[in-house]
Amino acid sequence: MTIANPLPLFRDALPAGRVIDDPDLIAPWTSDWRGKYHGAAAAILSPRNVEEVSAILRIAAAHGIALVPQGGNSSMVGGATPPADGKALILSLRAMNAIRSIDADANLAVCEAGVILQTLHEAVEAAGRRFPLTLGAKGVATVGGLISTNAGGTQVLRHGPMRAQVEGLEAVWPNGSILNGLAALKKDNRGYDLKQVLIGAEGTIGVITAASLRLVPTIASRTVFWAGVASTAQALALLRHLEEALGEAVEGFEILSDEIVDVVLSEVPGTRKPIASPAPWHVLVEAVTADPGDADALRARVEAALADALEKDRLTDATIASSEGQADAFWRIRESVSSSEKAKGPAMQYDISVPVGAMPAFMIDAARACEGHFPGSTAQSYGHLGDGNIHFHVRPPRDPADRGAHWIAEQGEAVSRFVNDLVAAAGGSISAEHGIGQMKVAELARLASPAHLVGLRAIKGAFDPGGIMNPGKLVPPAP
Ligand code: MLT
Ligand code: ZN
Repeated sequence: MTIANPLPLFRDALPAGRVIDDPDLIAPWTSDWRGKYHGAAAAILSPRNVEEVSAILRIAAAHGIALVPQGGNSSMVGGATPPADGKALILSLRAMNAIRSIDADANLAVCEAGVILQTLHEAVEAAGRRFPLTLGAKGVATVGGLISTNAGGTQVLRHGPMRAQVEGLEAVWPNGSILNGLAALKKDNRGYDLKQVLIGAEGTIGVITAASLRLVPTIASRTVFWAGVASTAQALALLRHLEEALGEAVEGFEILSDEIVDVVLSEVPGTRKPIASPAPWHVLVEAVTADPGDADALRARVEAALADALEKDRLTDATIASSEGQADAFWRIRESVSSSEKAKGPAMQYDISVPVGAMPAFMIDAARACEGHFPGSTAQSYGHLGDGNIHFHVRPPRDPADRGAHWIAEQGEAVSRFVNDLVAAAGGSISAEHGIGQMKVAELARLASPAHLVGLRAIKGAFDPGGIMNPGKLVPPAP
């Protein structure tokens, strides 16, 4: 049974302060980071512990009240933004932000869903360990959101996505029952691995409240360099060259088109191109060692690998950061791409993967095809070449009047279909790391195989029969 005003139900069941209905406090959380989706909610529910989450879900299930789980609200696909009809409440996990334990011997941190990624990085570093996943939004993205979207970032090449970091989960199912799966068991064959079902589920089947996360040794030293390459194919050849020369020391390998670098330079004061000679493509590489005695040797190995790469025509120019400050400055360029692109004006953004070997040609062919099909548009890409995952942006023709908003309103869907058809034809995925959210539901419905959709709908229906969890996200409704 649904009721007109559900807030008293939650107020009666929860301690004071858990139901926030001040419109000024709600407003910042009803739009997505990119500013593409604008929702409405009568309240933010802000539990402090798992029992309170359970109480909220029991009430919501009993009364058919939709909930939108939310962490840092940094979703790239509108995944944490409430629907515009105002019928859903936001379930904020931000107040559940305790790091419950860090066990350096076990290489494990247990932390609650609302812990911000950067806070986790700093806490485990103080304990002599490292959490091996990072991304540009690390100052706002929370552990719960990162797990719920199976986030990627710039270290997936070496350490895998969020799925690879999660050893155990505590979560609440929509009927209020608490899944206590924080024990980090190396072996556990009690049937379906429920944590894997929750990872990447985008809050559509339950609420993640805490996680046991894998830690690795801290970096004793890193060598960071910036290289210019003549083509995307040369960039991939450089990656393979470096892997041969440096092995697992290669942690990050990011590619950026020259135009994307220029966007960052024009938007972020104090940035400059790390290499002097012109190049159509740039790569940023980080090689690391956990052995403090290996710092000089690592740098020497990188220098030798770069000299060899130049000789073998696998790069055109390179510069090694001479200090930690310079290394940070190189990474600042990469990590400022999203915010710089956003400041530059509206564009259509895609987060796509194809088989790694096919990516160099895809980046060129897809951009050319797109620009040919939509005259005046420009297509650029950057990202995680070694993972076969790039961010592909299509910018509208120059239109100073409305920065291309009109063109996007008219052409955006056609551009999406065009790009996603190219991805599908290449055997790829329309979401490599950002998730489906609300942005890609229609395209998932159009392009996913019937068997994929059957599986998604069966899981959603089994765990969330009342359809209260994050409505309108991820799972396309049955026709
Ligand atoms: C990145 O790699 O920078 C992030 O995934 C965000 C983006 O798509 O720009
Ligand atoms: Zn990315």
